[in-house]
Order: sequence, then C-alpha cells, then structure tokens
Amino acid sequence: MTAEHWDSRYADIGDTAVSWFQPIPQVSLDLISSISGPVDSVVDVGGGASRLVDHLLAKGYHDLTVVDLSQESLSASRERVGQAPVHWVQTDVRDWQPDRTFHVWHDRAAYHFLTDVQDQQRYWTLVRESLPVGGHVVVATFADDGPGMCSGLPVQRYSEQDLAAAMGESFTPVATQREEHVTPSGGTQSFVWVVARRT
Ligand SMILES: C[S@@+](CC[C@H](N)C(=O)[O-])C[C@H]1O[C@@H](n2cnc3c(N)ncnc32)[C@H](O)[C@@H]1O
Repeated sequence: MTAEHWDSRYADIGDTAVSWFQPIPQVSLDLISSISGPVDSVVDVGGGASRLVDHLLAKGYHDLTVVDLSQESLSASRERVGQAPVHWVQTDVRDWQPDRTFHVWHDRAAYHFLTDVQDQQRYWTLVRESLPVGGHVVVATFADDGPGMCSGLPVQRYSEQDLAAAMGESFTPVATQREEHVTPSGGTQSFVWVVARRT
C-alpha cells in the first residue's frame, strides 16, 4: 500500500473508470444527512477523487477536509472544485496526526485496506481522538460476502456486527446499511456501512 500504487491506479485507469467510482455518492450523502447532531465539519479519509466533497460543497458545507495517500487523486479533486476552501491532506492515514477535531469522519473503502490488527486498532484510536463526544463516524468496507481484493490489494471484509465491534467501546452504532455498488464496468460489489456516535 504505497502512494505510488494509488497514484498509478488513478493516472492509468482514470478517476471515473476506477472500480470504486460513483458519480453521486448517494449512500454517503444520505447517511451524513441522517446524523442527529453537529455535522459542520467533515473529514473524508481516503477520499481520493470522490465526488463527495463536490456534493457537500453544493449543500453548503464549508469546513471540509480530504485526506488521501494519493496526491494524484487529491489534485484531480482540487482541480474539479476550484477555489473552494477545502483542506487537502496528502498522507498515509496511519501517520496522520490532525491538530483539530471533526464532527463527522467519513471513510468509504479506505479502512478495509488495513489488514494488520495493530493498524486497525491505531485507526480507531485516531478516529476516537479526532471526534468530540457526540461526533459521528460513517464508514464503509467490503461486506463479508464482498470481494477479497480491491485494486490489486487484499482487504479485510466485515459484517455490520464485525465493523461495529472493530470500533471499540467508545462508539455506539446508530445505523447500518448494505449496498450493492455497481462498478463502471458493470460488476457489483457488496458493501457494508456503519454510522456510529462517539460516546
Ligand atoms: C477504493 S479507493 C476509495 C476512494 C474514495 N473513498 C471513494 O469512495 O471514491 C481507496 C482510497 O483510499 C486511499 N488510501 C488507501 N490506503 C490509504 C492510507 N493508508 N492512507 C490514506 N489513504 C489511503 C487510496 O489512495 C484511495 O484513494
């Protein structure tokens, strides 16, 4: 899992042809809209070239941060949204030390690349420290009946229960959802979503 790997996926395939592309990230938007509590600041971890930031800007969000290993994907998004005041952070989430907190931590299909138990535990420690009590995490991974690989890399698959349990005791699940994502080439991938409140 290197920046070069991800940069070349985006550069070689194109950000609208990668298997995870969605023109409208509808489940993300619906789940963020469903949150009961403050949602003023949102961080999209492993956001890459996702259109989530475009849609949140259009809805009036103005405190947005996108974190990704791939500069290529962040540059594509930055070019798309122009001068919009988004914080773009190129880093491996495993090394990230944010100097602030967020109301919402969103991650679609980045966390599941952490297959090492220590990396997974550190990730949830970081989420816990990055959300105030009452903040929310919205996370999606391949489901337990989903693919075992993505982008040539192994992933950890989860059921709703496994994903909620991985978060630990500082989070209370408030919603779960299954999604059949249709890839640009017409395949389907089974995702599981969990929204949880930081308690
Ligand atoms: C399957 S893509 C999903 C992208 C985006 N969330 C979406 O829904 O379109 C996974 C993304 O996670 C990023 N990524 C993978 N491992 C990462 C890590 N350790 N730290 C930060 N970003 C990572 C990749 O560069 C890529 O943009």
